[in-house]
Amino acid sequence: MLFKPYNLSGIEIENRFIRSATYEKRADVDGFATDALIEFYRELAKGGVGLIITGNALVHVSGRSVPQMICIHKDHYIDKLKRLTKAIHNLDGKVIIQLVHGGRQCFPALLGGQQPIAPSEVYDPSTKITPREVTNEEIWEIIEAFGDAARRAMYAGFDGIQIHGAHGYLVSEFLSPHTNRRDDYWGGDEERRFHFLEEVYKAIKKEAADNYPILIKMNADDFIEGGLKPKESIRIAKRLEELGICAIEVSGGMYESGIKTVQLNIIKEEQEAYFRDNCRLFKKELNIPVILVGGIRSKSVAEDVLQKGDADLISISRPLIREPDLPNKFKEGKEKADCISCNGCMRFQKLDMVKCTQINK
Ligand SMILES: Cc1cc2nc3c(=O)[nH]c(=O)nc-3n(C[C@H](O)[C@H](O)[C@H](O)COP(=O)(O)O)c2cc1C
Repeated sequence: MLFKPYNLSGIEIENRFIRSATYEKRADVDGFATDALIEFYRELAKGGVGLIITGNALVHVSGRSVPQMICIHKDHYIDKLKRLTKAIHNLDGKVIIQLVHGGRQCFPALLGGQQPIAPSEVYDPSTKITPREVTNEEIWEIIEAFGDAARRAMYAGFDGIQIHGAHGYLVSEFLSPHTNRRDDYWGGDEERRFHFLEEVYKAIKKEAADNYPILIKMNADDFIEGGLKPKESIRIAKRLEELGICAIEVSGGMYESGIKTVQLNIIKEEQEAYFRDNCRLFKKELNIPVILVGGIRSKSVAEDVLQKGDADLISISRPLIREPDLPNKFKEGKEKADCISCNGCMRFQKLDMVKCTQINK
């Protein structure tokens, strides 16, 4: 099934492989797409992946979490992003952009010295930062920024967008009972914690064309005491399905929960596809496509996930940093990715750009 084409809400995908959103550190310091970024994406498109999701792109200056990330918070970013989408489309590739606000997982150094914002003032032991509670006025401004970014994404030629609703960034922080301790329209119970995402979705819908594909990546589990758990995340997914979201990528974890999102040393098949059980629960309850990410390394495991109906599509991040042509290699008979999940690629503070440190010593 892996090499069977797939229609994802109008996006014709050549196979079932998705490049999961992966920050590249290849935009310039102001967030404009560079030639290096475009070349990096050309390699991925040539490598046969059915759909590329870009690294997280910034929708509002208060949400910058990493340096040299792609920015889309102003109109003047559109032209260079157009070059990026064109380069991918010229190779018959498909690309959607992931929209993010970093919330409390931002650092003052990237915010002009400002304290990061979040739904509530909950200390993050992993960053040692206590964020400032975001005001009602700021919340509406950020919601509008997601809508504006979606409009720009459309003009720039992206085939769709993905809301980054996972990994403890702002959208995920509003959903999580651990990081959202508010008692107003934006928090207090499950329904109110959903309001921020609901309004973000509506703002995007208002700005984008009617049939523009809107996907989301979300946590099945925050892996933290008092955080989001699968029962509630599935209810959230059902609400999203009712609203009209076209696909859900199932992930988990946040900075504070340790290395749950990007697990280390995936060597044996039993260690692979570490969110598969959660993904299966989503699949059982939803009718829209569900995408599995996290530790998929072998062709046989990926095929089995699809055959057993545990997911509709397979999303991969780290292996494509090492081998951007992995889908083509799989097609030609390769059985397993070379990536050893050492997370050297994640030490990007020390790297000029995100790359595999095993083959770029
Ligand atoms: C260097 C690096 C950057 C990442 N950047 C993003 C990102 O921008 N957005 C996102 O949703 N996930 C990001 N992730 C997480 C991946 O998309 C993926 O969920 C995770 O790495 C597990 O998949 P894998 O085992 O195939 O790598 C990143 C991971 C790595 C290693």
